[in-house]
Amino acid sequence: MPEKGKFIRPFTMVLASLALAACSPVSPTPPATPTAPISMVTPRAHVAQLPAREGIEAVEYLTPYQESSTDAGPKINVAYPVITAAPSLQAYINAYVQGQRTYFRSLLNANEPNSAFTISWDILAHAGPYLGFVVESNSTTLAQNSHHAISVFTDIEHDVTLSGQDLFTDDGRRMVARAVASAVQTAGYGAGKTIDQFSSQLLEQPNGLANVALTGTGAVVVLDPSDTGCADFMAIALDDDLANEALSEPAHAINEAIANKTPFVGLPSPEQINASEYAISLPEVDCAVAACVALTYDDGPGEYTLELLRYLHEANAPATFFMVGRSVHHLPDIAGIVAEAGHTIGNHTYSHPQLPKIASAEVNAELARTDAEIEAAAGVKTPWVRPPYGAVTPAVMKELAGRGQAAVLWDVDTEDWKNRNIAETTRRALAAVQPGSIILMHDIHESSVKATPGIIKALRDKGFTIVSLEQLVGQAKPGVKYFSRNNAH
Ligand code: NI
Repeated sequence: MPEKGKFIRPFTMVLASLALAACSPVSPTPPATPTAPISMVTPRAHVAQLPAREGIEAVEYLTPYQESSTDAGPKINVAYPVITAAPSLQAYINAYVQGQRTYFRSLLNANEPNSAFTISWDILAHAGPYLGFVVESNSTTLAQNSHHAISVFTDIEHDVTLSGQDLFTDDGRRMVARAVASAVQTAGYGAGKTIDQFSSQLLEQPNGLANVALTGTGAVVVLDPSDTGCADFMAIALDDDLANEALSEPAHAINEAIANKTPFVGLPSPEQINASEYAISLPEVDCAVAACVALTYDDGPGEYTLELLRYLHEANAPATFFMVGRSVHHLPDIAGIVAEAGHTIGNHTYSHPQLPKIASAEVNAELARTDAEIEAAAGVKTPWVRPPYGAVTPAVMKELAGRGQAAVLWDVDTEDWKNRNIAETTRRALAAVQPGSIILMHDIHESSVKATPGIIKALRDKGFTIVSLEQLVGQAKPGVKYFSRNNAH
């Protein structure tokens, strides 16, 4: 990105219009104060280069969440930071990604070819206790292409997270909106809006002024293409005196750390993460006598797994997590916390294939690779396998038996992946439950995670005890299929 600004320097006049077409700065320095009539507002911001990014490798122990699909249907490529040390940051990023996913789905028609959804991210700054990110979202559909981005700064020592908007005081936000609108208009963009219209739009829309980079001395506001009518993101640098006046106290503190090049305090290494805050204890119960039930979650670990662990901790309820090997590979810390907190981990294959459709050697490889990931991340050798889609054949069961593993199916299907609805997931969990039931859910869906506290409470109100898989069915018998405590063969 920065090259755009550099090469035009000797040819400013000639290439000015070209540079504008790419939304780059006409001049890398602020325009001189105009000798304008006193009634005119002095510009207090100007088009600038997009903020520099540091690359995610700049910070150690940063775990990217990654998800991609090359199946038929939309091309999904989602990557964003997972930081176990800063739950407030995680909640903010998760909410943004979820909102963008919903928006993408709303644009999408059935069976639309060439549609794509991408989330990408980069580090903007790391200094003192502060870590700044930009998270970008691209939706490509027949109806519309949409490019959008936010920035977020977090104080990881105090778990305080600031959106771009939080970097300004209330008065500051109004001044900045006006200055930005004026700079965009001066540069010939703004889709015919007046400065008043444009600045009130920046103030009113939920993500207006949500993408702000701090430079150490000031701030750069980045606008989405839909804001300006420019093909690319457009950066507006605030003049120093405006930045000084408009930035909030926390933003000044971040700028000071950046300007002083204060070393970043660092993220906790996986060994330092405190799993005890998620710990649960197993109930003392005899499931031959009591009405027991096991909660199982497939397809993680993922963006909502820690939130689920918090709910399970608060309710002191055990669960079983059937993890996909490639997700464990990307999020080993979370797999480790799941085990350390006291939950059971099972194998849900490496790449989630239909096992009956692949050769026996491949079945074995899918399971072995996942076992290795789980053992490396969580120190657990699991005897439990949940075949994707519940699909097994005698040949598949033979592979499991050979590995000393059992298949865990279910007798209560919440269809949470389909309904994505807290009330419906809860209703289905409770409607079919019996003593000895195994309930199927997925911790990669926010609705399933958010439904969990209510499901636990309702099950307990009905007299059920929530237990681990081993408490429910006993030690795993290799080659056996478990549908519930009372249905295993
Ligand atoms: Ni699955």
